[in-house]
Amino acid sequence: MAFTLVTGGCGFIGNNFIRQIRREEPERHILNLDLLTYAGNLENLADLEGDEGYRFVKGDIADQAFVEGLFEEHEIRAVVHFAAESHVDRSILGPGVFVRTNVAGTQVLLEAARRHWKGGERFLMVSTDEVYGSLGPEGLFREDTPLDPSSPYSASKAASDLLCQAWHRTYGLPILISRCSNNYGPYQFPEKLIPLMIQRASRGEDLPVYGDGMNVRDWIHVDDHNRALRLILERGAPGRVYNIGADNEQANLRIVERILDRLEKPRDLLRFVTDRPGHDRRYAMDSSRLQGELGWRSLVNFDEGLAATIDWYLENRSWWERILSGEYREYYSRQYGEG
Ligand code: NAD
Ligand code: TYD
Repeated sequence: MAFTLVTGGCGFIGNNFIRQIRREEPERHILNLDLLTYAGNLENLADLEGDEGYRFVKGDIADQAFVEGLFEEHEIRAVVHFAAESHVDRSILGPGVFVRTNVAGTQVLLEAARRHWKGGERFLMVSTDEVYGSLGPEGLFREDTPLDPSSPYSASKAASDLLCQAWHRTYGLPILISRCSNNYGPYQFPEKLIPLMIQRASRGEDLPVYGDGMNVRDWIHVDDHNRALRLILERGAPGRVYNIGADNEQANLRIVERILDRLEKPRDLLRFVTDRPGHDRRYAMDSSRLQGELGWRSLVNFDEGLAATIDWYLENRSWWERILSGEYREYYSRQYGEG
């Protein structure tokens, strides 16, 4: 059986991606490789148990012998590479694991693909708009904007993005690179802005807004991102970079206020706290290449998507309560009988 290897499929974007694929392209079989770090939650894909077109394997992308073995044992025809340490604040507190996973792990995958692939395969690197650094009040990131990352997270993503470009130019590996803006939607780990604020507001806790709250992010629904990734995987040109964004710039404070309003909570829960060091001021994407060359369009309106996302977290309170209590980590040992 031929597989698309999805790395990091138990994280936020990856689990939504796998579910979308299994729903809309059932002929594409998925092998999900995930280390189940704090951010990986196997429960996210519990509904795929018994699906013959889906397999999970626990493992580390930075473990060369393990990854080589995986490529030997399975016919891997494509890679969609999500696995990463992904949280900027954690990268400031402890950058080492970001370099290990995001840089060394990507290199291990590239080498395994280079050694095993014979032709016709595809390797999609899921990069980020954060590699471009920060914008002033005007302008948009284009694919030819120089990389200028600010945080250990974005620097490690820029390094992995550049490694992919090098493996294309030097070894001819069929690389595609996507750089997407901030995602929101169901199953996002409750350390990121939107789910953090929803769970804290719903419990009547303070909401920590960094700096003046006027940093701008260009928000996109995770399903829109994943539809773009599928198009790039199918029809993108090897060696090419594709920005993904939904033309939806929002200041952090406005997002937090919307969450408070939908939850009917008072504005006095807002707390302006010390700013994040190196905090990028503004991200905004020009995704005209993706739209013009591959015909992608955003399908999720932000007002509706945010409202539905807030409702999802309220209706799935046990999902994030099991994360906060640590219970979600027991699921793997119950299913697979090991730690
Ligand atoms: P996430 O933190 O929710 O998930 C990351 C997943 O990778 C987890 O399941 C984790 O267990 C797994 N993982 C971590 N280290 C691993 C390792 N060494 N080996 C195997 N698996 C490992 O992240 P996310 O928000 O779903 O982001 C996925 C990817 O998309 C990342 O590469 C990120 O840089 C990129 N991205 C994210 C956003 C966003 O807004 N979240 C935007 C653009 C790009
Ligand atoms: P985050 O969700 O961490 O994504 P990123 O830093 O990758 O864009 O943060 C989004 C924005 O929200 C960013 O400008 C930092 C800000 N923020 C807060 O103001 N308070 C918080 O508690 C968090 C986690 C983020």
